Amino acid sequence: MKKIIFAGLVLFFATSGTALAGNAEAGKTKAAACGGCHGMDGNSPVAMYPKLAGQNEAYITKQVKDFKANSSRQNAIMLGMVAALSDEDAADIGAYFQSQTTAQTAPFDESKIAAGKDLYKGGDLQKGIPACQGCHGPTGAGTAGVGYPRLGGQYTEYTLAQLKAFKDGTRSNDNKSVMRSILEKMSEDDMIAVANYIASIK
Ligand code: HEC
Ligand code: HEC
Repeated sequence: MKKIIFAGLVLFFATSGTALAGNAEAGKTKAAACGGCHGMDGNSPVAMYPKLAGQNEAYITKQVKDFKANSSRQNAIMLGMVAALSDEDAADIGAYFQSQTTAQTAPFDESKIAAGKDLYKGGDLQKGIPACQGCHGPTGAGTAGVGYPRLGGQYTEYTLAQLKAFKDGTRSNDNKSVMRSILEKMSEDDMIAVANYIASIK
């Protein structure tokens, strides 16, 4: 009995650890399979594919796991891409992309920036929307230690699609509904504004 509890504890600490577990050097080779869409250094050249450069390992490995489970985050393309990845592969690839930097901001609509910045920096007290920077960082760099994703410089189309997916529940892999509960309070205009602002920072 004692042994079982001990094994459980070890597993808990092993899976909840925040230290980099992956090997970026090994990950570079493995990430070649991802480069065709996400860019060899994670700076995807087209809006259709999200940038992974500078994204944190914890977040990347969680998304790989979630795409594999094909339930709370479903995407037909990514389902095929992650099928053959082991946990170690995912960690290595995650470590590699985390070590890369976002090369440039993404295209954005200048007229949306002011409203988007207000929301990102300060939230909306009246509507009960918290400031995004509280978790995603003042420059959108994310919080690697706890796996809060980097957002800065991401394509507007991709960010907007994810916000909509959280809002309508087609993406539900956010622990404790942290994003879905925020999106309940956001209008379409709010989402467009903040997605444009996010594209403009890095
Ligand atoms: C054929 C194109 C393609 C290839 C190759 C590809 N991906 Fe993707 N990837 C996508 C698309 C499209 C999405 C957006 C899915 C969505 O809308 O939810 C995505 C999303 C992701 C995300 C989520 C990003 C985020 O910000 O949440 C991760 C992580 C990811 N891919 C990792 C990988 C890895 C690792 C590989 C290589 C093993 C890979 N991808 C190969 C097309 C691709
Ligand atoms: C309390 C912390 C918290 C706050 C505040 C927060 N987020 Fe998040 N957000 C998260 C977490 C955690 C995830 C990752 C969920 C998962 O595991 O897939 C996330 C995911 C996202 C994603 C998906 C990223 C990707 O690459 O697919 C976007 C976009 C996003 N948040 C935007 C926002 C915006 C805009 C705001 C402010 C209106 C905001 N977040 C406020 C914690 C937060």
